[in-house]
Amino acid sequence: MGLSVMRAGVVDNMSSGLGMSGWVVDPAAPDGRAAVDIIIDGERVARVAAHVPRADVQAHFRESFGLDVPADAGFFSKALMAPRFEGREVEVRVCFAGTDEPLTNGVARVRCGAGRIRALFAAEMAGHAGWSPAHVEVGDGVLRLSGLAAWPRATDDVPMLRADGGTVAPVRLQDGGGADDVLWFLPDHRRVTFTAEMALPPADSWPDGGFSVTLGWERGGTPLHPWQRVVVPRLLVMAGDRRAGSPPVPGHDEQARVLGQSVSAAQFEIGGYSTLHTMWAVIAGTDGRRPQDFRAILDWGCGCGRVLRWLAAERAPGQRIAGSDMDPLNVSWCQTHLAGCEVHSNGPHPPLPFADGAFDLVLGHSVITHIPLDVAETWFAELDRVLAPGGIAYLTFQGAYALLCSAHALGVDSLERVASAGADDSSRDANVRLDEAPDYYRAVFHTPEHLRALAGRRFEVVAIEPTAYGHFQDVAVLRKRG
Ligand SMILES: C[S@@+](CC[C@H](N)C(=O)[O-])C[C@H]1O[C@@H](n2cnc3c(N)ncnc32)[C@H](O)[C@@H]1O
Repeated sequence: MGLSVMRAGVVDNMSSGLGMSGWVVDPAAPDGRAAVDIIIDGERVARVAAHVPRADVQAHFRESFGLDVPADAGFFSKALMAPRFEGREVEVRVCFAGTDEPLTNGVARVRCGAGRIRALFAAEMAGHAGWSPAHVEVGDGVLRLSGLAAWPRATDDVPMLRADGGTVAPVRLQDGGGADDVLWFLPDHRRVTFTAEMALPPADSWPDGGFSVTLGWERGGTPLHPWQRVVVPRLLVMAGDRRAGSPPVPGHDEQARVLGQSVSAAQFEIGGYSTLHTMWAVIAGTDGRRPQDFRAILDWGCGCGRVLRWLAAERAPGQRIAGSDMDPLNVSWCQTHLAGCEVHSNGPHPPLPFADGAFDLVLGHSVITHIPLDVAETWFAELDRVLAPGGIAYLTFQGAYALLCSAHALGVDSLERVASAGADDSSRDANVRLDEAPDYYRAVFHTPEHLRALAGRRFEVVAIEPTAYGHFQDVAVLRKRG
């Protein structure tokens, strides 16, 4: 058939799991949507679909790995929970779907280590029940959610979707569906996909903060995750699908630089609103202040305004709302489309274009997550400078949980660096690329202890809340001294 592959069978030894990724070129699937079968010791264990990544992601592979990837090559990636292979040497074959014909370099023998990562991160593998909604939609007066969850095994209570007002609706849990791949490190939990839906009451009866739901139990009062919630903005539903006069939803390119993909308008808006209201809940629960208590708020690394648009829409009287980012494309999008806020550019290194003490809250959703370790300290100093005494920095970062979710893609070296040095920034992230600093944007991981020590040189560490951002990243709530 004249099939070829650029890179396949990149098999990492992930202790109790195996990660495989590669490129496939299949003339029978010229749009790059080929599929491959993963065969381990003769057993066909998974079929994986490939897709053609964005051109700049391809460019990243070309430069980082010296691969000449054709424009129509499909990329595939698969992580397998494989405790049954632990301690064994296995043969991994990556074949064109439905055949026994391996891709070029598609055969490898791999020794699966015996619980090395499990030993390094034992504490992180014990807890962390929670959920994250991969899909959120509102239509015909109904809220529909689905996503992945880590559900405790040892309970006889019944899972429920629960609204703030007390209304409950059933949740359907299903084993598998990719949950094993992502949540492989939680052996004491059921790793499931969930789906749930709830009829929305009339929007004019909702509280100002929107209609808020969480996953929990029928009888027990505590939610499955202390902070995770989905909040449907009242403004969004009151005018049908779109608010009259509301800013447009950014397009694919703008969103992809922030989310790695683009999502539906409802998901973009509800996701940003939920992120904002989770932040308010964490700040109220740890520092005690409410949104209207802040005189000036900076959304640092605001991207395409996912959260900023809602900060501006819900601005308290006299409150200053500002955003800044180092990505010129998204700064320009925000400047053109968002009202009620000011949006500035900043470089990859300090300073920010603001006066000393200009803000009493700086938020950074998934920004520290991308800043190289040798630059991070100068940014903590800069956030300290633009905050007034007593001001709060609310920063999300990739802690141990995010690290383990990403373990298959990262490889053992990164995990060992985090275990020994407390942090790792060795992986580039292809979503944002600056011409003046092409190596800048990384996927960075910190243990909570490392982040606490780094931030603690400047700030009082009020709280570190594991997985508070989307049941994935951890949150640091920091207070400026003095
Ligand atoms: C994952 S995106 C998150 C965007 C936004 N906070 C959100 O939650 O939708 C990370 C953003 O941080 C920005 N960024 C990274 N380092 C930055 C820095 N040193 N200063 C300003 N922005 C930065 C990137 O350009 C990108 O827009």
